[in-house]
Amino acid sequence: MNALAERILNVKEAAESRRSIRQYKSDPIPREKLEEILSLALKAPSANNLQPWRIVVVQDPELKERLREAAHNQSQVSAAPAVLVLYSDMKDTLDHVEEVFHPNFTPEEVAARAERARILWASRSSQEREAWGAGQVYILLGYLMLLLKAYGYDSNPIGGFNPTKVKELLGLPEHVAIAALLPTGVAAEEGYSHHRHLLNRVVQWR
Ligand SMILES: Cc1cc2nc3c(=O)[nH]c(=O)nc-3n(C[C@H](O)[C@H](O)[C@H](O)COP(=O)(O)O)c2cc1C
Repeated sequence: MNALAERILNVKEAAESRRSIRQYKSDPIPREKLEEILSLALKAPSANNLQPWRIVVVQDPELKERLREAAHNQSQVSAAPAVLVLYSDMKDTLDHVEEVFHPNFTPEEVAARAERARILWASRSSQEREAWGAGQVYILLGYLMLLLKAYGYDSNPIGGFNPTKVKELLGLPEHVAIAALLPTGVAAEEGYSHHRHLLNRVVQWR
C-alpha cells in the first residue's frame, strides 16, 4: 500500500472511488506491491479456466516513452510509473493447456480434456482465437483496476493504441492480441466524477 492509502479498500469502496486517472506522481509502485496486486488479479475467472492472459509490466522510462508514441501520444502512458500491457496468447495457452486443468483430475482426464480443447480450437483461425482470448483478458483488466484502487493506486485503461507497434516494441509474437494498456501509479489529479446510465436504462427484469 502506498503512503496515501491507510488501508486496503473493500470492493464497494474501490468501485465507488475508481476513476480513470491520466496524471500521475512519479512515485514508483514497489515491485512486491505490484506482485501482490497481480497475484490477486490472477484469481479472476476465465472460460474453462484457460487463463489466456499474459502481462508485460513496463517501467523503463525510454520504453514507456515509445509506448506513449504507439498509443497516439496519450501522455498518461509515459507519466505513470508503470504501464501494464495486457494481452491474450491463445497459442501459448493451447500449446500448454494441460497446465490449466485442476490437479484433482487424473492424468487420463487431463489428457482427454487437453485433446478436446485442441480439437475444439483447431477449427478457429488464430485471429478468432485471440479475439476470444482478449474477451477473457478484459475480465482480468476489471479485477486489476479495482485491486489497484483498493491498494491506493489509480489507473487508466487504454484501448487507443497501434497494436502492431506495441508488439514490435515489446518483442511480442504477431499472433497475440493486445487487449489494453493500463498506466498505473499514484494519482496527481482527481479525474472526472462518474457519469453513468441509470439502472433502468440498461437493466431489464423479467
Ligand atoms: C477498454 C477501454 C478502453 C479505453 N481507452 C481509453 C483511451 O484510449 N484513452 C483514455 O484516455 N481513456 C480510455 N478509456 C477510459 C474511458 O474513457 C473511461 O473509463 C470512461 O470514460 C469512464 O470514466 P472513468 O473510468 O473515469 O469512470 C478506456 C476505457 C476502457 C474500459
